Amino acid sequence: MAKKRIGILTSGGDCPGLNATIRGVVKACYERMGEDNVEIVGISNGYYGLIHGLCRTMQPSEFSGILTQGGTILGTKRQPFKMMTVIGEDNVDKVKNMKETYKKERLDCLLTLGGNGTHKTSALLADEGLNVIGLPKTIDNDLFGTDVTFGFHTAVDIATDVLDRLHTTAASHSRIIVCEIMGNKAGWLTLYAGIAGGADIILLPEIPYDIDSVCSAVVKRAQKGKAFSILAVAEGVFDTKTAKLKKKEREAYRAENGNDTARIAAQIEKNTGIEARVCVPGHMLRGGTPSAYDRLLATQFGVHAAKLIAEEKFGRTVAYVDGKVTANKLADIAGKKKLVDPKGQEVQTARDLGISFGD
Ligand code: F6P
Repeated sequence: MAKKRIGILTSGGDCPGLNATIRGVVKACYERMGEDNVEIVGISNGYYGLIHGLCRTMQPSEFSGILTQGGTILGTKRQPFKMMTVIGEDNVDKVKNMKETYKKERLDCLLTLGGNGTHKTSALLADEGLNVIGLPKTIDNDLFGTDVTFGFHTAVDIATDVLDRLHTTAASHSRIIVCEIMGNKAGWLTLYAGIAGGADIILLPEIPYDIDSVCSAVVKRAQKGKAFSILAVAEGVFDTKTAKLKKKEREAYRAENGNDTARIAAQIEKNTGIEARVCVPGHMLRGGTPSAYDRLLATQFGVHAAKLIAEEKFGRTVAYVDGKVTANKLADIAGKKKLVDPKGQEVQTARDLGISFGD
């Protein structure tokens, strides 16, 4: 019997849980098909490696001891989807190369671990006839069709810890601290960490803020004797004026002026007279070991991917929907984003606590 050759790549920003997912799928494949009947082909640095043929057959021992390891043993790289079908100055036909690598490596299927951009390319490769299975990774939790992505909850834990620590220093100095939290254009990470970390004001890209409302929330707290305030601010926030601009104009504004965080802090200090500081944990939110929740989720996702491989159900991506691990068709989810619903339960929970969204 010919061995099954399974290619694996991790693409886009790294996050905790990538290695746990790789381990889950590989162990489950060995278990189902027998270690001697499976060959795992590791593709380095995401689609870049698939384009340039950076592949090697991996040994079973390489998947031991990686459950708790952050980052990705395969390496990763951003390879923007909108450039995938464009032949650039290097004259490389990326789609053609990826198909050739798949063929040359005699792959029976390709597993792609990534977020939105990764899934768009996965759908394209599935359209081109490759057997692709996606696995939903991102700290942003903005992948359509799944309630949760692996990496998200670890990042929530880290961001919550940051907010906890900011509380003691902000309270000691009677200061405002504005904490910028990653998440790209989605506010999930800021919303979850903001609630869990007891933020007083939460600003999300999905709810444009008005700086006067933000300042009045700070003043209201001060009048109640609470001399400090913690703001959890998503990196992608816009004020109500900027939010009215066309998408292209808004992006140009962002490229020219950077994120709003420092401006929000400066404006609060100016308007309220209370000293303000900025904290940007940045990539710390993506580093280190996955939480127990993410280890479990990643393992469940990996095991489900192995089942899809065995059943030859390709052109899909693993998902978590209503408490169950399942799969979506890549074509149904690629190119769609899952954003926070401003009228959803989590936002309402926060509002019911008196948390301001600056609107
Ligand atoms: O998609 C994950 C993410 O961490 C976003 O939250 C953030 O906007 C972006 O990646 C940062 O990208 P990079 O790692 O390229 O700096």
